[in-house]
Amino acid sequence: MPSKEREDIIGKWSLEKLELLRKYLAGYLTVLTNQTWCLGYEYIDAFAGTGEPKTKDEQKYVDGSPRIALGLTPSFTQYHFIEQADWRVAKLEKLRGEFPSQGIAIYPGDCNKILREQILPQLSYLSKKRAIAFIDPFGMQFEWETMEHLAETKTVEVILNFPVMAINRGVLRKHPEMISKASRGRLDRFWGTKDWMVDLYMEERTLFGIEKVKKPHSGKEFGYAFKKRLGEIFRHCSSPILMTNSKNTPLYCMLFAGHNATGKKIAEEIFLRYEKNKQ
Ligand SMILES: C[S@@+](CC[C@H](N)C(=O)[O-])C[C@H]1O[C@@H](n2cnc3c(N)ncnc32)[C@H](O)[C@@H]1O
Repeated sequence: MPSKEREDIIGKWSLEKLELLRKYLAGYLTVLTNQTWCLGYEYIDAFAGTGEPKTKDEQKYVDGSPRIALGLTPSFTQYHFIEQADWRVAKLEKLRGEFPSQGIAIYPGDCNKILREQILPQLSYLSKKRAIAFIDPFGMQFEWETMEHLAETKTVEVILNFPVMAINRGVLRKHPEMISKASRGRLDRFWGTKDWMVDLYMEERTLFGIEKVKKPHSGKEFGYAFKKRLGEIFRHCSSPILMTNSKNTPLYCMLFAGHNATGKKIAEEIFLRYEKNKQ
């Protein structure tokens, strides 16, 4: 029997995420294409996926983040798609045939290594190029050290999907001593320091004395804590918006970080409108 073809199934919140991305990229391109000094404006998808996820409700194929970026006019001058899973890379490869006039580079493997060693060295300040990186991991796969490399270029802006649920359910426990060493290590690499403990835990007086316990949160506080962290390396960071599933469980916070005030303004306008429409 032929094996069933693998695909990514996405929920309503992912569609909202993709729409926010599309709006931001369209705004970014409008601004950048008017800058005559700029020698290139590139799109980096650090966690590209298949490019063609299927919706859970309607079982319909929709454009994933790489196709959203490719479908915009004016277009980017270069597209960098990074993806670790081979079967997803095979689907991404089809994009070259579908968009033959657009410069598409596909990198199979870990985005941390590929960004640091292959992509970011092409985007130095002297290159007179600009880029926007979409960072959309399932969990804590993006390392803080890579974020520092991105910020150091001064040419790359970031739209980050901060993984609230993966941190909350996958790492945090009511008491910090219940967190495994491996989970701590993952969050340390993502946060780039052990200071997340200060932001996500508080002291509480109990019958047994003072104890550290997880702070109560809606999910957005995690986004604000990470915004503070991003503010140490980027000049302009947006407030986070919270993305939830149909049961209102917090999944991700979307954030902008960059060195450009206009980028932040575009992102915050789009994010504010999204939050207003949700109310
Ligand atoms: C949330 S999905 C991306 C969805 C895609 N951005 C979209 O909106 O259509 C995360 C993707 O990251 C890939 N991935 C996981 N770890 C990775 C890593 N270290 N480097 C690159 N890709 C990775 C997974 O295989 C998965 O396809």
